[in-house]
Amino acid sequence: MKYAVIGGSVLTQIDGLEADNILHEEIIRTPYGQTSSAFTVYQYAGNELVYFNRHGKTHTIAPHQVNYRANMYALKQLGVTHVIASAAVGGIHTEMPPLQCVIPDQIIDYSYAREHTYNEKNNQEVKHIDFSYPFTESLRQRLISAAFSQHINCRTWATYGVTQGPRLETVAEIRRMQNDGCDIVGMTAMPEAALARELEMAYASCAIVVNWAAGKMPSVENTTENIVRDVISVQQIKTCIEKGNKQLQKIVSFVVSGEFC
Ligand code: HPA
Repeated sequence: MKYAVIGGSVLTQIDGLEADNILHEEIIRTPYGQTSSAFTVYQYAGNELVYFNRHGKTHTIAPHQVNYRANMYALKQLGVTHVIASAAVGGIHTEMPPLQCVIPDQIIDYSYAREHTYNEKNNQEVKHIDFSYPFTESLRQRLISAAFSQHINCRTWATYGVTQGPRLETVAEIRRMQNDGCDIVGMTAMPEAALARELEMAYASCAIVVNWAAGKMPSVENTTENIVRDVISVQQIKTCIEKGNKQLQKIVSFVVSGEFC
């Protein structure tokens, strides 16, 4: 078992992973172009762990510009078997307020124009993957157990709606997503999860809610006048990201330390 942790807007570092733990940095060339950055291979609690940030080392790659195919292909080349993907998301469901930790179990994909498969026009037989359950249940359960053993309150189910970004959604878009059954909204789980499945790597998402989705702030919902005024505060998102980082670090470091091997 070899873990990779994908950092994003949250999980920009992992508790206990210092320069001393770095074994090496790997630059992986792929047939799909450049990865978001080099990959850092750490020695952590006796195990090797690969870390990279999908938005790049200086956080300049927007969700729609991430080369998901190159990144996931590179993880496979590095021998990764289990991928833990961090996610900063907006809360749609009333039980998904800011700072809530969520381990989602379903996805609805609203993203578009992303390179989303390794099936290409190369005369190879088309491979249809089963994607009924887009997250690997055993890895999800490890994240959930880690959260509870760290006394972190986490939601163990949620449908993650993946939007194209980089802009946030309109109130009407979130209303439609809620009608569709989405509980949280983010921009990066797809095509990442599907590519992991095509490459036969286990994949689960560890999400932190960093804002109420558009129009979902409880006090303003259904009052047109307030919806117009109550916009999402980017400063508030930043504060939640900082706080949420700590929770996700605890969960992830507990899992990769080998407690659940
Ligand atoms: N929408 C989409 N992606 C997000 C949000 C949001 O409200 N918050 C954090 N990532």
